[in-house]
Amino acid sequence: MSIPPRIRAGMVGLGMIFDETYRPFFEQVHREGLFRRDFGLVDVDLAAVATRTGTRAGKYRAHAPTPFANLTGPDAAEQLAKSDVDVVCVATPDDRHFGPAKAALTAGKHVLIEKPSVLSLAELDELQALADEKQVLAKVVYHKLLDPDHKKLRTHVLEGNLRHVNNGYCSLLEPKSISTGQFAEWLTGRNPGTYVACHYTKLIDFTFFSRGNYALTRISANGQRGLVGPADGNTWDSTQLQVTYTHLNDGREATFDIHTSWVTPDNFPGYVDQEVQFRFDNGVWNAHQRKRGVEVTIEDRSPGEFKYTPNHHYNGRFVEPWNELSQRGYGIEVIRRFFEEVAYVEHGPGDRHDRWQAMAHYKYNDLSAERNCVAIVQALEAILAEHAAGRPGGMVTTDDGLRLYLPGVAEPKVLYAGRV
Ligand SMILES: NC(=O)c1ccc[n+]([C@@H]2O[C@H](COP(=O)([O-])OP(=O)(O)OC[C@H]3O[C@@H](n4cnc5c(N)ncnc54)[C@H](O)[C@@H]3O)[C@@H](O)[C@H]2O)c1
Repeated sequence: MSIPPRIRAGMVGLGMIFDETYRPFFEQVHREGLFRRDFGLVDVDLAAVATRTGTRAGKYRAHAPTPFANLTGPDAAEQLAKSDVDVVCVATPDDRHFGPAKAALTAGKHVLIEKPSVLSLAELDELQALADEKQVLAKVVYHKLLDPDHKKLRTHVLEGNLRHVNNGYCSLLEPKSISTGQFAEWLTGRNPGTYVACHYTKLIDFTFFSRGNYALTRISANGQRGLVGPADGNTWDSTQLQVTYTHLNDGREATFDIHTSWVTPDNFPGYVDQEVQFRFDNGVWNAHQRKRGVEVTIEDRSPGEFKYTPNHHYNGRFVEPWNELSQRGYGIEVIRRFFEEVAYVEHGPGDRHDRWQAMAHYKYNDLSAERNCVAIVQALEAILAEHAAGRPGGMVTTDDGLRLYLPGVAEPKVLYAGRV
């Protein structure tokens, strides 16, 4: 039997999301390989990881299925980019994605970045130009697009059952334990909107507005402080983002409010509570994570170890009916799909350039389809920075680059001069 081709993967950042989605994927693909009829059987290995201290990597290496290089220190991501990996996955905190992604693309590696990809359109331009020059994939993870409920919403829209969205709201509330514990290391100066509202800006942009007849028009935002940081500081407890799109043919607008927070009580039943409602000309779509499934309470173990309302669609450990232990869900599926796209580019049939172009065309994950989402993140960050400096109430427009208007100030601040 011939030896299958191998994709060597590198990982920057080994935190919660690595543990929930990448680790199970790498362990699964190590056992089973990656197979599709068009590219055949391909081996995928986690070959190297880059973190600041290497502590978690060291612990994981002791029981990982394959040995991997444990790169550490301030230049760990650069060392990884220069190593012989084929793919680099970037899962550092949201304001530390650009450097590792740029280093990896410069070295000609395929790149997968956790959401939000980057925090400004200038950074996005740079990464996109590198991906085009090197003809590699540069993609971002939005696993909620693979949530069966969100796939069904998009199916209804594409099939014309739900017609012309007018407005809606999305909310994602995380418990205090996230901001005070797990994220305490990087949360100073940050806000819960940048890192989770982007799930919904992407859902909205991809589901309703990615077919060319709409333009992103305005972005505004508010936020509250005083729990995880000082009341006059630049660390935010909660944010409310509002985005408006305009239909280019008839001028009708659609507006969406996205509320995020990381200070809800730890025993709030939703744990990570998620809800969306979209109103159309002819219908309403309401998806609520706590209404779609299981509620479970186990004495002395809920809600810490076992959440009251778990989302088994995202990620769950299961004993399969045939007694095999498995871990599956759309959080892992989206990582697998990215590696299938890389395997297709490198080992599929026909011309590599054609295969690369075909895979770079997907709007659900390619950086080329990220402009609106990155523009919204950049606007949110700029509005909150002005707010923290005593100038709240900003609004960003997109018709002539990204321009930030503040109440009582005639001249806008140009955040990005090019076309959004
Ligand atoms: N897709 C999702 O729904 C989802 C869920 C959670 C997190 N995320 C995203 O994943 C990313 C990481 O989040 P997390 O929850 O795993 O965070 P985390 O705080 O648990 O882990 C971050 C990791 O990055 C490492 N790190 C920090 N700075 C670094 C640097 N300069 N160089 C190398 N390593 C560095 C830390 O040591 C840690 O291992 C964020 O962008 C976040 O938005 C996505």
